[in-house]
Amino acid sequence: PPPPPPGPLDFSGTKLVNDAEHPFMDARPGDIRGPCPGLNTLASHGYISRSGITSCSEIITAVMEGFNMENNLAIFTCYSAFLVNGNLVTDKLSIGQKTAKTGPDPPKPATVAGLNTHNVFEGDTSMTRADAYFGGDNHSFNETLFQGFVDFSKRYGGGKYNLTVAGEYRYKRIQDSIATNPTFNFIAPRIFSAYSESVNPINLWVDGRQDDGQLDTEVARSFFQKMRFPDDFHRAARPMNGENELDVLAAHPIEPGTNVNGVNTYTPDPTSGTLPDKCTLYENHVNRTVRSLYPNPTGNLLVALKANMHYFYTSVQPKGCKEIFPYGR
Ligand code: HEM
Ligand code: MG
Repeated sequence: PPPPPPGPLDFSGTKLVNDAEHPFMDARPGDIRGPCPGLNTLASHGYISRSGITSCSEIITAVMEGFNMENNLAIFTCYSAFLVNGNLVTDKLSIGQKTAKTGPDPPKPATVAGLNTHNVFEGDTSMTRADAYFGGDNHSFNETLFQGFVDFSKRYGGGKYNLTVAGEYRYKRIQDSIATNPTFNFIAPRIFSAYSESVNPINLWVDGRQDDGQLDTEVARSFFQKMRFPDDFHRAARPMNGENELDVLAAHPIEPGTNVNGVNTYTPDPTSGTLPDKCTLYENHVNRTVRSLYPNPTGNLLVALKANMHYFYTSVQPKGCKEIFPYGR
């Protein structure tokens, strides 16, 4: 079975992370980048493999080391993506497109298609990436959308991206998708990733010496577009767990749902987990999303699935969630 996830950092204060051992290098031909500006940046600086082919062990160490993401949030985020987009048997994940470099495919309907895969983790209403519906590019930086991010930072944040801006811009992106994307989907797991990603820039991209929750929009561009730490960048001052995502939801509460019949037909889906209820998000993911990809696993695949599901569970165990075993113990 694959190795267990790394535990918390020994030293978890701020420190220089754009250091001599982790120089920025442009992606080489063949290197893969994708929809996550955090992981793209870690690849550009060699905290994860510069090829963009990686594993949860490597990612979890890197997001803690490079950004001070809190251990359980790192585990929850990584395994929820890895279980649906990674190769469980070879323990490899592409941070972007599908590639043979992650190894032989398991039986369908599993796809093992990397983080670009639409609707099993990546989803609609991203801040700087378009909805997959609009031409299929759900992963490239989009300048027009970024200008919306900057504009909202001016209107609601005095020029900085902060929690107030996050609440307004998340709502605006949702309203845009309701009005223009007939396939708009905003149920679990997208509920979790959307709000989590709204606060990541505030929690993880503000220099740890500054530590005031006010993100400069040129610093934001450095991560979103250039996939690069600013010069002298120091990681967050303490492990960041993302719980301020609930403030983003509270600014404009909206239930999980979808456009059921074209644009402007947004309809709540009461069977979806909601953001505050991480136990249901965990259960939905394991019991619906993962199981729909792996209805009948056997052999090494089954062993790897069970192990990775358990690692995923350990991140919600502290919240008092009950472990579920869709493939038996
Ligand atoms: C977006 C995966 C960690 C910042 C995404 C997306 C994926 C992803 C698949 C695309 C979702 C979408 O917008 O549709 C992961 C995984 C992580 C991780 C597996 C492992 C722990 C991080 C970290 C940061 C970060 C450490 C910040 C330092 C972001 C941001 C977005 C995003 C800001 C939103 C991009 C946008 O809306 O334009 N991530 N991520 N992520 N990620 Fe990550
Ligand atoms: Mg997206």
